[in-house]
Amino acid sequence: MDSLMHIIEVRNVSFSFEGVAAKVIDNVSFHADRGEFVSVIGPSGCGKSTLLRIIAGLIRQERGKVIHLGDEIEGPVKGISFVFQDFALLPWLTNIENVKLGCSMLDISETERMRKALMELEDVGLSGFENSYPNVLSGGMKQRVGIARALVSDPDVLLMDEPFSSLDELTAEILRKDILYILKSKDLPVSSVIMITHNVEEAVELSDKIVILSHKPSRVKRVIGVDMKHPRNKHSRPFMKTVDEIYATLTK
Ligand SMILES: Nc1ncnc2c1ncn2[C@@H]1O[C@H](COP(=O)(O)OP(=O)(O)O)[C@@H](O)[C@H]1O
Ligand SMILES: [Mg+2]
Repeated sequence: MDSLMHIIEVRNVSFSFEGVAAKVIDNVSFHADRGEFVSVIGPSGCGKSTLLRIIAGLIRQERGKVIHLGDEIEGPVKGISFVFQDFALLPWLTNIENVKLGCSMLDISETERMRKALMELEDVGLSGFENSYPNVLSGGMKQRVGIARALVSDPDVLLMDEPFSSLDELTAEILRKDILYILKSKDLPVSSVIMITHNVEEAVELSDKIVILSHKPSRVKRVIGVDMKHPRNKHSRPFMKTVDEIYATLTK
């Protein structure tokens, strides 16, 4: 594989919903490289979820391309997983069965699916909850199941749509720290993460690169690199300076 190849490249993507004249996404381009945690930040309703669904191959852009390791995305592919804002667990399946759903595109035996799902549920800290149902879990635990389901297939790209925004701030903060640890400690590392957020501090806490979008129609206003060691201190000068810069760009 070409080592200079982007893991994901979004190239001049535009989109509008059928029957709606106004564009939602207008000529958006950015890329995610190997090992990069990229956040895409923008105001509510600007088209972030739509953009992430396009990258996942769940909806089709009107113009432009999304390229995954050199191949154009034309539908869902094996190496790309998705974490949803509202968890999207199936309430009639046990937690372990929900995690196993993440293996549906893999050509592996039932025994192997079970082995991987058990391991993944353990990695997200939910051993002992295999055979209970999502309704007994707190929001933070539900999202852990959502993350396990996304990671169980050993994806090279993890897409997350505001994964912490339905959680209370304390739970969100713990899960943010845990997710960096989980990603780092995997045997098969996830190559790139693309996370949608509207939370500036969250973006600065987690990301190597932040793509700032405008109001609808979404355009890229600016891309900011964040080069600070983890865990990042929210009260440090560089942290606060980056947060200020992003607010200024968002509100300009
Ligand atoms: N199915 C749809 N048909 C028409 N408009 C839609 C549809 N889904 C979303 N929209 C509109 O597209 C815009 C972008 O939505 P979305 O991508 O969900 O924004 P964000 O995730 O940034 O909040 C919003 O203005 C929303 O009202
Ligand atoms: Mg959204």
